[in-house]
Amino acid sequence: MEVVIAPSPDDVADLAAGIVARAVSTLDTPVIGLATGSSPLPTYARLIAQHRAGLSFAHASAVTLDEYVGLADGHPESYRTVIRREFVDQIDLPVERLHSPDVHAADLAASCSDYDRTVVDLGVDVQLLGIGGDGHIGFNEPGSSLSSRTRIKTLTDQTRTDNARFFDTLDAVPRHVVTQGLGTISDARHLVMLATGGSKALPIAEMVEGPVSASCPASVLQFHPHVTVLIDEVAAHELVHAGHYRETYRNKPSWQQL
Ligand code: F6R
Repeated sequence: MEVVIAPSPDDVADLAAGIVARAVSTLDTPVIGLATGSSPLPTYARLIAQHRAGLSFAHASAVTLDEYVGLADGHPESYRTVIRREFVDQIDLPVERLHSPDVHAADLAASCSDYDRTVVDLGVDVQLLGIGGDGHIGFNEPGSSLSSRTRIKTLTDQTRTDNARFFDTLDAVPRHVVTQGLGTISDARHLVMLATGGSKALPIAEMVEGPVSASCPASVLQFHPHVTVLIDEVAAHELVHAGHYRETYRNKPSWQQL
């Protein structure tokens, strides 16, 4: 796990956009895993700017991590709608190659398995991730199996409260979601965690330095061979080994990319 403590949220977004842009410009058929929520928005803004300056996503595919169950198709807060509005509709990635869970299928369990197969068959090159206050990635809440696949989950009260800012009322936040499992997410070749601000300091410390445990689902990243954790100074506040991470990044060999 490579932990990069950047001076500011802007630097975090610059580094993350650089990783995605490199994959898009060097791979024949890049597959990018997209997260929703606030954390990746500045990264998407930079990628949109790079697209306007010439970076093409026409040969790329994308997969989303998760989706609310119970919102009408096209609801403004459905994650497919959000990811189209905030990113995909502003670049030239063909919308038919934006894959997301079908939460309206009559057989939801079969639809989850189908989506899992789609993600595996595509093979995600770079997966962007945010972390929840309770240590979730995707919508894998505490207690999630570390080898789980795409399935339906129930949100914790903490996550529903955190996400209420996107809805008119807390009651409007769905209780159920479909999410890629921790095993599904771990199949991606490169995992890039983005976290900025004080509310992320504790979950990031648990993820990076705590025990690997279903109680902090993001800690499963400790098993993955290629994880880049991009955080700002504030989100790094609880890390015991912050000095070592800074030293390591300062002395990163010039030939070695993020
Ligand atoms: C969203 C997702 C979630 C968020 C997490 C952090 O697709 O997978 O795990 O990344 O809840 O959300 P923000 O970035 O809004 O703090």
